[in-house]
Amino acid sequence: MKRIFNFSPGPSVLPLPVLERAAAEMTDANGSGQSVMEMSHRSKDYKPIIEKTEALLRELMGIPAAYKVLFLQGGASLQFSMVPLNLAAGEKPGESRGAAYIETGIWAKKAAEEGAKYAKVRVIAGSKDRNYTYIPEAPAPDPDDAYYHITLNNTIVGTRWPKLPETASVPLIADISSCILSEPLDVSKFGILYAGAQKNLGPAGTTVVIIREDLIGHAPAWTPALLRYDIHAAEASMYNTPPCYSIYIIGLVLEWLKDLGGIPAITKMNQEKAGLFYDYLESSKLFRSPVDKNFRSLMNIPFVCQVDDAEKKAELEGRFVKEAAAAGLVNLAGHRLVGGMRASIYNAMPIEGVKALINFMDQFEKGSK
Ligand SMILES: Cc1ncc(COP(=O)(O)O)c(C=O)c1O
Repeated sequence: MKRIFNFSPGPSVLPLPVLERAAAEMTDANGSGQSVMEMSHRSKDYKPIIEKTEALLRELMGIPAAYKVLFLQGGASLQFSMVPLNLAAGEKPGESRGAAYIETGIWAKKAAEEGAKYAKVRVIAGSKDRNYTYIPEAPAPDPDDAYYHITLNNTIVGTRWPKLPETASVPLIADISSCILSEPLDVSKFGILYAGAQKNLGPAGTTVVIIREDLIGHAPAWTPALLRYDIHAAEASMYNTPPCYSIYIIGLVLEWLKDLGGIPAITKMNQEKAGLFYDYLESSKLFRSPVDKNFRSLMNIPFVCQVDDAEKKAELEGRFVKEAAAAGLVNLAGHRLVGGMRASIYNAMPIEGVKALINFMDQFEKGSK
């Protein structure tokens, strides 16, 4: 068997031991005589699986008791609607509350646009003026705002917040889809954290929502049942059928992470991987990072060829992505809206993958001259 190095931004690489264990348990999980895919979500066989997954997430992230953990569907994108619906929407049109958003990338922009359907959204800062290559100063919210929304790691443009904004008593809400469990995070600083699973947690299909209990129960009466945090919380994510198999794989990923040494160990590994890659980009005459040094992501690293002629640049970058794929280094094309290249190096990407990529880039650079 030959495994490729997959630099996809999501769905993305999963730890090999997790895939091997899932394969071994595929037809008979825990001596139950059935696959996890076949289990009723309310059965005695499945209950311990979801409970263990939640307990591991709480332990690894240090989630305080006053927060609920929900396993939902609809992707991180549905949280763009659920957050304003549950926190700011009014019983009648025109009665919605204010909400502050910081526009640090394309997902942050989408969150604000969707939020504006249910809340009085104000985008109070952003970095579009320089193609989102930095994180702006974060202004204080209006004290009456229902919440303050940020995207902690910007997957497409490769930036991350170096420190959290001060929001006083206004709840801070963060999309942590592409950085959950990659480094320490003080959950108690947030009102809601949410993440699509398909990057650092497991396969697509689950969205993890971590919500402070006092923020539950404020949705207007007209809110669809499936979009209400209070209903999901009261039913422990079992109001309807949850994404059972995806939650099971998340549990295996969390066990893998705990065995590695949890957040302290993975932080060190992520810093080492990203450090190697950024150091290489700094030393390269062909490739460079477009992102300001203070705001560079540990997880998603965009890079471009430093060639003035636009046509030559596009040709070189296209050839790079193609030749890298032929060498087993796949999914390196940048997002369709920004171009260039991007290496997503999530928790499960081994350091060998990063070294192989650097080596390939070095060879490509020598050959391109
Ligand atoms: C930061 C961020 N937010 C939201 C999304 C959208 O996630 P989903 O496809 O799960 O709705 C993505 C997807 O890559 C993302 O990176």
